[in-house]
Amino acid sequence: MRILRLALAAAIAFAPLPALAAESTAPLLTSDWSFAGPFGTYDLPTARRGLQVYAEVCAACHGLKLVAYRNLIALGLTDDEAKALAAKAEVQDGPDDAGAMFMRPAVLADRFVPPFPNDNASRAANGGSLPPDLSLITKARKGGADYLYSLLQGYEEPPAGVTVAPGMNYNKFFAGHQIAMPAPLMDDFVQYADGTKATVQQMSHDVAEFLMWAAEPHLSVRKSIGFGVMIFLVLLTGLFYATKRSVWRDVH
Ligand code: HEC
Repeated sequence: MRILRLALAAAIAFAPLPALAAESTAPLLTSDWSFAGPFGTYDLPTARRGLQVYAEVCAACHGLKLVAYRNLIALGLTDDEAKALAAKAEVQDGPDDAGAMFMRPAVLADRFVPPFPNDNASRAANGGSLPPDLSLITKARKGGADYLYSLLQGYEEPPAGVTVAPGMNYNKFFAGHQIAMPAPLMDDFVQYADGTKATVQQMSHDVAEFLMWAAEPHLSVRKSIGFGVMIFLVLLTGLFYATKRSVWRDVH
C-alpha cells in the first residue's frame, strides 16, 4: 500500500507539466534605471513626471490605494501641490451631526482615491476585466519596472493568423498576448512642465519609475543601511581576527 502510494506520489511529482502559456512572450525591454545597482536611488524629477502620467492617464482605471497624498511630499512636491492634487478627488466622510455620510475633497492624510467604488464597478466599466491596483505592481510582476516599461510599449498589430478576441488588444509582452487594457499612451499625451518630450517611451520610463517608488519608497534607506552593515561586518571580522590572535598567542 505504502509503496503504491509512494509510486503514485512520485508519478505526480515528476509528471511533465502541461504547457502553461501556449505562446511565450517577447524578451523584456530594459531602461537606464536610476535605482538600479547597489547605490542607485530614485531620480525625483523622473518620478514626478511619472506621477503626472499616472494621475492624468492610468488613474482613470487603476487605483493606487497604498499611497497617501502626503507621501508625495517625499517626491519633492510642495505641501500646496500635494494638497491641490488631493483636492481633485472626493472621498466619503461622516457621519455628520445628523448621522448622514457626506462627500468632501480629499486631503493630504487620505490615500489615493480609486477610480471605482469596488471591483465589480471596475469590471463593469472595463468589459469584465479588472484593472489591478498599481501600488505594488512592480513587485507583483516578474521583471518589475522592466515589465511595466515593456508592457506599455508592447502594443502592435497581431501577427498574421492571430485573431484577437473582441474587446482585447494584442500586446507582445503580456502573457497570452491578449490584454483587455487598450494601449494607454500616445506621444504627447501629457505635457511635461520641465519641457521633456512626452514620447511613449519616455512616459513608460517615467511611470515605471514612479510605480517603483510607490511600491518601495524606502529603497535608498534600505541600500544605505545595507552598505553600513557591510562595513560594520568587515570591521567586526578584523576585530575578531585580532582578538583570536591575541587570545591564542601563547599556544603553539
Ligand atoms: C481604460 C482603462 C485603463 C487605463 C487608462 C489604463 N489601464 Fe492598465 N489595465 C486596464 C485593464 C482593464 C487591465 C486588465 C487587463 C487584463 O487583465 O487583460 C489593465 C492591466 C494593467 C496592468 C497589469 C498587466 C498584467 O500583467 O496583469 C498594468 C501593469 C497596467 N494595466 C498598467 C497601466 C498603466 C501604467 C497605465 C497608465 C499609463 C494604465 N494601465 C492605464 C485598464 C486600463
